[in-house]
Amino acid sequence: PAIINGLKSNGLAHPNTRIVVEKPFGTDLESARTLNRLLASAFDESQVYRIDHYLGKETVQNLMALRFANVLFEPLWNSRYIKHIQITVAESTGVAGRGDYYDRSGALRDMVQNHLMQLLCLVAMEPPARFDASAVRDEKLKVINALLDLTGNDIILGQYADGEGQGSYRQDVGNSSSTTESYVALKCRIANWRWSKTPFYLRTGKRLSRRVSEIVVQFRALPHWIFEEPAHTKGNSLTIRLQPDEGIDLRLTIKEPGPGGMRLVEVPLDMSFAKTLTSDATELINAYERLIMDVIRGNQTLFMRSDEIEAAWRWTDAAITTCQEQNAPLQLYSSGSEGPLAAEELLKRDGVSWRPLETPPTPEPSRP
Ligand code: BG6
Repeated sequence: PAIINGLKSNGLAHPNTRIVVEKPFGTDLESARTLNRLLASAFDESQVYRIDHYLGKETVQNLMALRFANVLFEPLWNSRYIKHIQITVAESTGVAGRGDYYDRSGALRDMVQNHLMQLLCLVAMEPPARFDASAVRDEKLKVINALLDLTGNDIILGQYADGEGQGSYRQDVGNSSSTTESYVALKCRIANWRWSKTPFYLRTGKRLSRRVSEIVVQFRALPHWIFEEPAHTKGNSLTIRLQPDEGIDLRLTIKEPGPGGMRLVEVPLDMSFAKTLTSDATELINAYERLIMDVIRGNQTLFMRSDEIEAAWRWTDAAITTCQEQNAPLQLYSSGSEGPLAAEELLKRDGVSWRPLETPPTPEPSRP
């Protein structure tokens, strides 16, 4: 507020000004609304760029290309063919010297309200009529508005304890009684025709075994199996890897090459950007560089609109209130682990499991 008022009173908020606002954009719906009102008193919405650096990541934009520049996926992109979708943003670092901010925030506010919500929107939104700021943001807003409120059973909160030579969260933030969550796992539902029968499982946490951000789209089993060999494969899945090793991996079942009958094997159709594209293209630019370039060009497509940010807070606030009212237990997990066991249980109830953070390498098909 001080900066916005200062720009205004010193005549720096004129029609050619563009203002970039970094997250956190408020700490709840109320504070986000106040900030939006203040911005609107000095600038037109077309001058405001609310940054979410996840939207500047190469693969996140590629997700839109994959969905809207190919005919292959759209017919399958719905509850009829997709069993569930997992969105993971796992970090191996702790609060990294930002304990004071983080302890007042927690994973729901710090990661879910913004980064995970944006990924969810891009996976779930309807095809926009045009690739421009208002069409894309209209469709993202519809997804947020269609999200059902979470119940206490849909939310797992966790906090890292010590482990593997690392201190605990409470030691890191210097607050021995902190109940702030450094991990959250959610089962989300989108109430619309496309997604009503597909759960979206979201998880994010600090001090996990590995830094990995990815979206896994798990397709349903085949309606009928014709081969003699039992279907032992997990079924088709599409993984969009944001980091590290940006790329897209589609798991297919094929016949194992060579004689020996109809032996089936699951193989990745792997498009790692580093392997597939030329070296120039793989020098992936930093997400912030890309977004600041968009500010200079005046392109708001990858920035959040005021109504979108408020809708995301409305949903997140409701989740936080649910946790508070139901006194949601805080599950401790060891530093360097895959997160709390309760998060595994959350998926087990639906007969599914998280994709391991430590993904074992795909075995080479055996050659006779
Ligand atoms: C920030 C959060 O927005 O995103 C941090 O405040 C988090 O807590 C970071 O570590 C993660 O970003 P990235 O690009 O490293 O995945």
